[in-house]
Amino acid sequence: MVNNEVVLDVRFISKHFGALKAVDRVTFQVNKGEIVGLIGPNGAGKTTITNLVTGDLKKTEGEVYFKMVNISKMQPFQIARIGLTRTYQVVKPLQGMTVEENVLVGSLFGHSDRKNDLNNARKTAHEIMKLVGLDKKKDYKVSNITLPDLKRMEFARVLAMDPELVFLDEVMAGLNPSEVEESMEMVKRIRAEKQLTIVYIEHIMKAVMGISDRIIVLHHGKKICEGLPQEVCDNPAVIEAYLGKKYAKEVLKTYE
Ligand SMILES: Nc1ncnc2c1ncn2[C@@H]1O[C@H](COP(=O)(O)OP(=O)(O)OP(=O)(O)O)[C@@H](O)[C@H]1O
Ligand SMILES: [Mg+2]
Repeated sequence: MVNNEVVLDVRFISKHFGALKAVDRVTFQVNKGEIVGLIGPNGAGKTTITNLVTGDLKKTEGEVYFKMVNISKMQPFQIARIGLTRTYQVVKPLQGMTVEENVLVGSLFGHSDRKNDLNNARKTAHEIMKLVGLDKKKDYKVSNITLPDLKRMEFARVLAMDPELVFLDEVMAGLNPSEVEESMEMVKRIRAEKQLTIVYIEHIMKAVMGISDRIIVLHHGKKICEGLPQEVCDNPAVIEAYLGKKYAKEVLKTYE
């Protein structure tokens, strides 16, 4: 499923907020079909990188190529329409609408050819809600669902746009351990079914280690390590900056 076709090529991107180098000359690539974990302590720059790649924030420097196209100066809606989109760490549901209507917006927006084809868009929305396990809650107003369901709904809304690459920014926050397991299975299943490429931001190490083909570690805006989950767990700089010795050992044991 994973091949060596590079879909995302991030070249020396930076974002400075005044004196703070929130992202400092970060370079990485993502191959088609991969799940790449993006981890690091709070404030490491994970969400800022997402914002820079998707065009939500203007870069201080650097370039981003998606499917060989330089998207560095494109607007978020243009980038989304060519297949690169994201969920938000702080959820952004369309208030006053139902779950189905929120997902439908993704379905209608993602493909301009669906604008005049509500039935087709609705069909896609229903298929996706089923995929993420929200079909029974489709008529709920977004104000009446829990945070984990809101996160699922955001995932559904971007999936309905039929993307090729998705940044998932902490979609598992607030889940209990058995829900985390379910969510991991769901992400893997959806990746396979939709031939999706995923950049996966998460603090729940069990999930990141269990799901990612490769992991990139950030610290103070810089990439400090990149490699297979086991390699990352074993890296002294990562243990020092983020995992801690005891934790790294426990995580490694789980995946031996
Ligand atoms: N709009 C902004 N203005 C000023 N500083 C910002 C802004 N957005 C982010 N920062 C700062 O940039 C740094 C990186 O923040 P970012 O949100 O990318 O971290 P993160 O890795 O996503 O953290 P978390 O795991 O807590 O979500 C932090 O020091 C943050 O305070
Ligand atoms: Mg963040």
